[in-house]
Amino acid sequence: MNKYINNRVADSDWDFLTANTKEYTHCYHIYPAMMIPQIARRLIKDFAPQNTKVLFDPYCGTGTSLIEANLVGYENVGTDLNPLARLISKVKSTNYNYNKIKNAVDSINDNIFSSSINGIDKIQIPNFINIDYWFSKEILNKLGFLQLLINELNEEIRDFFLVPFSETIREVSYTRNSEFKLYRIEKEKIPFHNPDVFKIFLTKINRNVLGLIEYNNNVKQTNTKVFDFNTCAGIPQNLFANGIDLIVTSPPYGDSRTTVAYGQFSRLANQWLGVEDASGVDNNLMGGKNNVEYQTFELKSANEDLQFIKEIDYKRYNEVKSFLIDYKKSIDNISPLINEGGMICYVVGNRRVKNRQIQLDAITAELFENNGFKHITTIVRSIPNKRMPSRNSPSNVIGDLSATMTKEYIVILKK
Ligand SMILES: C[S@@+](CC[C@H](N)C(=O)[O-])C[C@H]1O[C@@H](n2cnc3c(N)ncnc32)[C@H](O)[C@@H]1O
Repeated sequence: MNKYINNRVADSDWDFLTANTKEYTHCYHIYPAMMIPQIARRLIKDFAPQNTKVLFDPYCGTGTSLIEANLVGYENVGTDLNPLARLISKVKSTNYNYNKIKNAVDSINDNIFSSSINGIDKIQIPNFINIDYWFSKEILNKLGFLQLLINELNEEIRDFFLVPFSETIREVSYTRNSEFKLYRIEKEKIPFHNPDVFKIFLTKINRNVLGLIEYNNNVKQTNTKVFDFNTCAGIPQNLFANGIDLIVTSPPYGDSRTTVAYGQFSRLANQWLGVEDASGVDNNLMGGKNNVEYQTFELKSANEDLQFIKEIDYKRYNEVKSFLIDYKKSIDNISPLINEGGMICYVVGNRRVKNRQIQLDAITAELFENNGFKHITTIVRSIPNKRMPSRNSPSNVIGDLSATMTKEYIVILKK
């Protein structure tokens, strides 16, 4: 058997079944496949080399590992191609001045309860295709009103309010909130869809303010930088002048189209926030472009499974290959920047394609070993908490609901 698979250790101590995953600013905004903070925290505690200075997360999403790095005082850098994820990461990691936030909350409250929306002619509704398909007229006006209030705030604190605004947008739209992909609720339900936009927004603000207070009371140092570079394509020169000591990350486990659609989840919010080409986000994510027919991907940990899929579905084979080619490029680009003795912690999912499991944990370990690292262990945990589809159709056949993602693999390597 593959040595990396042999090196797996199941450990229920990593399940964190009853943990509060919404401490500090971790409560700010839901997102697909979030890492739970307890995992990042324990990885830092157990595996950060002595004198760690810099933690890097090459798929930072909403910044779970960046926040945990701030809580122990490490410099931290994240990158993500989804603009909404970057906004959330930045806001969650910032120790905003409480008094300034509190004054803004009071002014938003006053404005909401004292103004008549009808009289406000400055409201601007974004002009994106199909906006009326996703929002009723009344909700559009209310969202436009909230955006106006946010735009009038001081720039220093404005983003703090864009985060609950973004979460509100999704919740009050006609999206089925239980799905990550953008699906509209059933037609019959539309006339009864009448969420209280202002109440939802204010409730989220109050929750986030409590998270901020807790964060400010505990954070050692906020030293976060969030970028939008793609490690598959390259890493800006000189960004890591003193190297990287520790990576704590949870990469995607497949392309967005057939696994988790981060871009679709974020699309309406990205559109309201003025992101150009918000519908194109998923195509830019790992494995999003599958024009790889003439490229090869050879790796002991993947060859047999790829061959199996190739024989029954050539298109799916190319999709998986496209993802793995990007995944390899990213690891090849990251590896030289890790300091001697530096540690890698990749939290990955092994999805099924055509009923065949892609051993992404073994693939990760092998790719890093090919770059001079030593595989230490792979911890296997159950994933009761993670917000990702635990049942989907691994064979892409509607109605085939074999459970896929009930385990998560934490791959640990040392340079
Ligand atoms: C599993 S999520 C990370 C979740 C994160 N740990 C959190 O707790 O919120 C994976 C992230 O990778 C991002 N992503 C996918 N391909 C990428 C790429 N090539 N470069 C940077 N980010 C990418 C997606 O936008 C998504 O936010």
